[in-house]
Order: sequence, then structure tokens, then C-alpha cells
Amino acid sequence: MVQDTLGRLLRDLRVSVTDRCNFRCFYCMPAEVYGDRYEFLPKEEVLTFEEIARLAHIFARLGTTKIRLTGGEPLVRRDLEKLVAMLAGIPGVEDLALTTNGFLLAQQAQALKEAGLKRVTVSLDSLDNTIFGQMNGRGFTTERVLQGIQKAQEVGLAPIKVNAVVVRGVNDHTVVDLARHFKGTGIVVRFIEYMDAGTRNGWRPEQVVPGQDVIGRISAVMPLEPIAPAYPGEVANRYRYKDGSGEVGIITAVSAPFCGDCTRARLSTEGKLYTCLFAFQGHDLRGPLRAGASDEQLASLIVGTWRARSDRYSELRAMQAAAGARKIEMYQIGG
Ligand code: GTP
Ligand code: 5AD
Ligand code: SF4
Ligand code: SF4
Repeated sequence: MVQDTLGRLLRDLRVSVTDRCNFRCFYCMPAEVYGDRYEFLPKEEVLTFEEIARLAHIFARLGTTKIRLTGGEPLVRRDLEKLVAMLAGIPGVEDLALTTNGFLLAQQAQALKEAGLKRVTVSLDSLDNTIFGQMNGRGFTTERVLQGIQKAQEVGLAPIKVNAVVVRGVNDHTVVDLARHFKGTGIVVRFIEYMDAGTRNGWRPEQVVPGQDVIGRISAVMPLEPIAPAYPGEVANRYRYKDGSGEVGIITAVSAPFCGDCTRARLSTEGKLYTCLFAFQGHDLRGPLRAGASDEQLASLIVGTWRARSDRYSELRAMQAAAGARKIEMYQIGG
């Protein structure tokens, strides 16, 4: 098994299948920056399904057991179920998941399930339509997202998780409603601390609501107690309702970083390997791949990159931010 300089294995691969998105969340792709004229990657720069699948096979041989498809918004990439079918058959891949904003999910859930997708995580920041519309930058209501979640549940893309980014003064007063809505449905809501990802969202530390505060607010109305992680290195901290009606999670990427057991590699839309969500530079795999590199040569590039890895941005946040770190944008790497 390949290990980095801090002894962390290469267990997870997160693949961004497109840099495009039908939303313009202010914390990720602010509409003022990503207007009608914004140029996303041309088709020839984007990895083909065959290229992604070939790399995924190599990662699996190096010990990766979990693959997550992300974007941008992965469901805007045409025929995504074909990629899912190619990945579902890879020996060693035990978990195949998708992170989506849910807008196109109702119409694709069935095909994705049939292709072999195991589960989905749907982003939904608030049930309040005005706030949600403001956060997604397009004025979209929650209706289609909720339909997408329902359809995913019907076809069995479970366990379904809902991710909500909490931003102080924007949606933090709606966290209890969101938790209440999904309590007792088997769907797990996870509240993510707003992170200083990318360079274009104007993030300020005072906009972060610590996950513990979110738990406090929910627990005051619907009592919660902490429970053990579902697997070692789980990103979310879990809490269950004392009345037995399910659980919620918090992702404390700012207040209590979890770099120590971060086993995640990220493959960008254009085929660069990133060893941290906050990395500035990726390691090009597309170039060698298209120049005819063998599986062994590609494997040794990946192994070399991973062995040299020392990233722990979230743990060093204060220092790095002060040094004005340059970073990749979240939509290029999928969160
Ligand atoms: P499960 O596999 O269901 O446990 O989900 P996950 O937590 O691995 O993946 P998900 O994509 O749902 O992660 C939720 C969010 O947590 C992401 O969108 C990011 O905002 C944040 N996150 C996930 N991984 C990392 C990471 O390695 N570093 C940081 N800083 N944040 C992360
Ligand atoms: N901080 C925290 N979470 C973020 N996401 C995107 N940008 C940020 C940020 N700056 C989340 C999305 C989605 C997932 C892919 O990443 O809301 O749930
Ligand atoms: Fe799109 Fe997700 Fe970024 Fe929102 S957070 S703009 S849905 S990629
Ligand atoms: Fe992993 Fe980087 Fe996130 Fe730390 S900041 S958990 S090293 S991706």
C-alpha cells in the first residue's frame, strides 16, 4: 500500500467530471465572476470516460476502495451513467458515490442506479426558498432538489446524505428546519463549516459557524448525542437523535480539521492529480496518458506524487492564509 510522508494511505479518489455547473453558489462560483461569457474547459481538455476509467483502475490497484464523482455539477455531463457503469465493475472499488446539487437528479436517478451507482449526496443549504435562491445564485427554489432526493430514495441510491454549507448571517438560522425536515426519513443531513476554498468567494473567518454551535441549536429542540464514526477517518462527526429517529453530522473543516487521516486524492476535470482540496498545483496525468504511457508508468507517477505528499492545509490554515496561499477553485475539484 502506498503511503504519504505522514503515513496516510490512498484510499479515496474524488473525480471531477466537469467544471461546469447549473448553479452559481456564491461560495463556489459567484455569478459576478462566472457570467455568460466565462470560458470553461474546452471539450478536448476534459478527460474522456475511457481515460477516467483507466486511471480509476490504476488507483484501485494502488489500494483505492472508494470513488466519488463530483464536478462542478456532475449531472450536467452527458451520459454520466456510462461512466458509472465503467467504474462500477472495477475490482476493489467497494463504494461508488456521487455528489450533486440535485437539480437534474430526478430524471437521472434510475439510470444511475441501474448503471451501478451505490449512493448520492445532495447539496441543499436551506429549505427557505428565498435563502436557497440567493445561495444558489440562480433564484432556483428547492422543489426540484427535493424531487431529486425523493426519486433517489425511491430507486434505492442509499444511504442518502444531504450537505448544507452554513454561512453566518445567511442560512444559519434555518439549520433546525433543515434537520427537522429530514428527521425520521433515513436521510442524514450534514452541516459543513464554510471554508476558505478557492480565491473568489471573499471568505471571512467570522462567517464560519462552528459545527458544535449547529449541534447545540438542533439539540436544544431535538436532543442529540454523539456516536462513533462509521469508518476510520470519516469526515463528518455523527450525532443521533435521542428518540432514535436518525442522525445528523457536522463537518468541522475549519474549527477542528481532520487532515491527520485524510486519505483523499482528487482528479480534476482536466486530469490533474491534487493531493489536497486547498492545493494550488496539480500533477498532470492527462499529458502522459495521451502520450501513450503504460499503466505501470502512470502508476509510478501517482505513487511518486502520493509518497511526496505532506499537505495538511486545514491544520495550517492560519499560517497559510497569512502567507496569501494560491489555491484551486472548488468547482474544478469538486469539494
Ligand atoms: P461520505 O463518504 O458519505 O462519508 O462522504 P464524504 O464526507 O467523504 O464526502 P462529501 O463529498 O459528502 O464531503 C462533504 C464535504 O466535506 C465536501 O463537499 C467538502 O466540503 C468537505 N470535505 C470533504 N473532504 C474534505 C477534505 O479532505 N478536506 C476538507 N477540508 N474538506 C473536505
Ligand atoms: N465551503 C464549504 N463547502 C463548500 N462547498 C462548496 N464550496 C464550499 C465552501 N467554500 C460544498 C458544496 C457541496 C460540496 C461539493 O462542497 O456545497 O456540498
Ligand atoms: Fe455548483 Fe456545487 Fe459549486 Fe454550487 S457548490 S456552484 S452546485 S459546483
Ligand atoms: Fe485533506 Fe487537505 Fe482537507 Fe486536510 S485540508 S483534510 S489534507 S484535503
